Amino acid sequence: MKSSLRRKLAYLVLGCLTLSACEQQLSSELQAKLSGYHARLDHMPHSFYEPGMGDLMHGLQLRHAKLWYAAKAGNWALAQFELHELRENLDRVARWHPEEEGLPVEPAIAAHMNPGAQALEQSIDRKDGVTFQSAFDRFTHGCNSCHQATRHGFIVIRRPSVEPVSNQQWEQME
Ligand code: HEC
Repeated sequence: MKSSLRRKLAYLVLGCLTLSACEQQLSSELQAKLSGYHARLDHMPHSFYEPGMGDLMHGLQLRHAKLWYAAKAGNWALAQFELHELRENLDRVARWHPEEEGLPVEPAIAAHMNPGAQALEQSIDRKDGVTFQSAFDRFTHGCNSCHQATRHGFIVIRRPSVEPVSNQQWEQME
């Protein structure tokens, strides 16, 4: 009886030891897996979700044209909205692409785009179609001077002459 009890105890101790060794092995395997996932997640936004500079520029191009037609129709609420979106897009450009052709992008946007954006804001606030046009040209000139500064001077933005989309109404709804 005594010896069988001792044997049982021995098995139990052995069992516990192997179990905890197993657990330790498992947890280190898990740990390795988890840190692998973390490393992949850290890497993911760049490899999978990073919007390319050209893609962000397409968004700017579309909104630049929408802003023009909104103001032309005297829809100042829409013009204000498009300007806000343009500013957000520009922030995103600086966030995802802090440097282009050796040029720090955030200060470049501040220098090239802010004066035009401020002039646009004032004309929109005043609902002034005349100053809007010169502010728009100033803003557009900012796009082009940044293209020149980043060695893309062959991309030239100008006033639009055709509505960018046909499925949106420019005039304000009464
Ligand atoms: C920070 C400087 C900078 C500013 C500000 C800027 N751009 Fe660009 N733009 C670039 C660069 C750099 C490229 C080239 C992107 C690439 O390499 O894919 C580009 C490309 C473009 C393209 C070409 C995209 C294509 O694939 O055809 C368009 C259109 C464009 N920009 C429109 C605009 C408009 C509109 C504005 C102003 C509202 C603007 N950009 C402001 C730097 C700038």
